[in-house]
Amino acid sequence: MTTKVLLVEGDAAQAAELVEMMAAGAHDDFVVEHAESVAAAGPLLAAGGFDAVLVDFGDPIGRSADLAGLVAAAGAVPVVVLTDRDDQELGAAAMQAGAQDYLVRRDINGEALRRVLRYSRARIRAQAAFEQTLAAHGRELEREVAERTSKLSREIADRIRVEAALRESQHRIQAITDNLFEGVLVVDGAGMVVFSNRSARLLLGGTLCDTLAERHVDEVFTLMEGKRVRRFGDGPFHHVARTGELYQNDDAVFQTAMGRTLVVALACSPLIDEGRRVGAILSFRDIGAIKKAQQEALQASKLASVGQLAAGIAHEINTPTQYIGDNLRFIGDALATLMPLLDRLRALALDGQMSPAEREDLRQALERADFDFLLEEMPAAVGQSLEGVGQVSRIVLAMKEFSHPGEREKVAINLNRAVENTLAVSRNEWKHVAEIDLDLDAGLPDVHCLPGEINQVLLNLIVNAAHAIERARPGGMGRITIRTRSRDGWIDVVVADDGTGMSDEIKERIFDPFFTTKEVGKGTGQGLAICRDVVVNKHGGRIVVDTEEGRGSAFTVSLPLGDGATAGFAAQ
Ligand SMILES: Nc1ncnc2c1ncn2[C@@H]1O[C@H](COP(=O)(O)OP(=O)(O)OP(=O)(O)O)[C@@H](O)[C@H]1O
Ligand SMILES: [Mg+2]
Repeated sequence: MTTKVLLVEGDAAQAAELVEMMAAGAHDDFVVEHAESVAAAGPLLAAGGFDAVLVDFGDPIGRSADLAGLVAAAGAVPVVVLTDRDDQELGAAAMQAGAQDYLVRRDINGEALRRVLRYSRARIRAQAAFEQTLAAHGRELEREVAERTSKLSREIADRIRVEAALRESQHRIQAITDNLFEGVLVVDGAGMVVFSNRSARLLLGGTLCDTLAERHVDEVFTLMEGKRVRRFGDGPFHHVARTGELYQNDDAVFQTAMGRTLVVALACSPLIDEGRRVGAILSFRDIGAIKKAQQEALQASKLASVGQLAAGIAHEINTPTQYIGDNLRFIGDALATLMPLLDRLRALALDGQMSPAEREDLRQALERADFDFLLEEMPAAVGQSLEGVGQVSRIVLAMKEFSHPGEREKVAINLNRAVENTLAVSRNEWKHVAEIDLDLDAGLPDVHCLPGEINQVLLNLIVNAAHAIERARPGGMGRITIRTRSRDGWIDVVVADDGTGMSDEIKERIFDPFFTTKEVGKGTGQGLAICRDVVVNKHGGRIVVDTEEGRGSAFTVSLPLGDGATAGFAAQ
């Protein structure tokens, strides 16, 4: 390897000697340039290309200012100082001035000089490389720090933005939900209230400022099912939070801690956070006023139907009453005729004396009175009258049982009897259009229900069936089949007809309030809406229809057996 050295030596002889020393190396190739003074060295150094500078400062060195100048001019090139004297102070001064090494003239030989120059160069290179690496590391570090700082400030800005957006959206949700008519309550998996809107607080707490947060839902209200209290732990809300199933109850009752009883339509769905079920969201609407209106509508429609039935019932009663009257008049007339005859017959029977003229007279009187006819007809007239009276009292009893005035608690009744009563009071509605097929299960168990309202359901179904038949066969007769059955915990009543049946579009809407296809005055569209309310909401039952256009329809009402407390809710 070539090492290019700048030799700064004022003494030409010594310079020659040193050059020779350096040139004597077997393995190294030293190229030496010679400057006679520090000043002369400057331009050479400026031209560059040296691996080391060897400078002889003689004895004493004493010119460290020049040495410092030389070191500065050398820049990265190592400067090695030669002196005549071995003196620690001199050495230290040289090193302080920036020299790489310090050699005493008389101690060195060619080999040592070359080694020192080589090492200086290697050391300087190593140091330069090290410094370069260090600088590179420093730059890398600075870059990383700058990058992280900017990333961090970006993240902080993002977080501030996200938090602001979150706050804003929370405010928005609160503002929106506060303006909802529905109460909204969110509970966690343990039943603690974590969110409530204004309506919920108003309905459950009672005052505007009363906060429900941080309270257990059981301390706020409990869900009632009949007389049964459902606490959070064993109630439907916990079930929803646990299983994710939805819960809906259009006729639920809340008992609030403030002592209020609320009738609500209620829906409960799971609260999902990052795919996990963490609680339940309840939304509910106070339907107390609607229930009251519905009750009034039911009452009104009951009155209306009794009113409508009244003409038919009057007719049903009028017919037997009329022939009872006719018969009694006949019996009265007959008795008026028979009395004098009987009187004469008694006299004859007692004294036994009668002239032939008298006998003839009596015979003619008996003939005139149509005695044989009266003997035959009078018992028949009495029998017919008794039958008529029976019929009247049956209708009156049916009417009494049908209307069940004031019955507001569920009682156990036999639905077969309810069917018979309803048929009796509505006879005039169907007798001209249909024959009735009764298929009543003789072993039908009693069912707990509100009898007046169940009768109303049966009446609506029977009248609808008669109307459908009337429309399908004007002037003809159809058939209404009524079947009762019991099956594991339920009682089914089917009212089937062979009337018009229904299209799919009609079938979808029949339970909507005020939906009717009948002309004004014949239908109000309330009948089936009331049926559904009574069966589903008040009895926890079901009402379904199976129908085919042109063939007829079959409505099935299913009521749960049981004590009435668990089956749906009592009427409010
Ligand atoms: N058995 C049936 N066959 C065919 N259509 C029926 C039958 N029952 C009900 N419908 C249809 O459903 C509609 C709604 O019945 P709903 O009993 O609610 O009211 P409505 O009978 O029209 O009037 P309302 O009962 O109030 O006097 C009827 O108008 C009719 O179109
Ligand atoms: Mg109807």
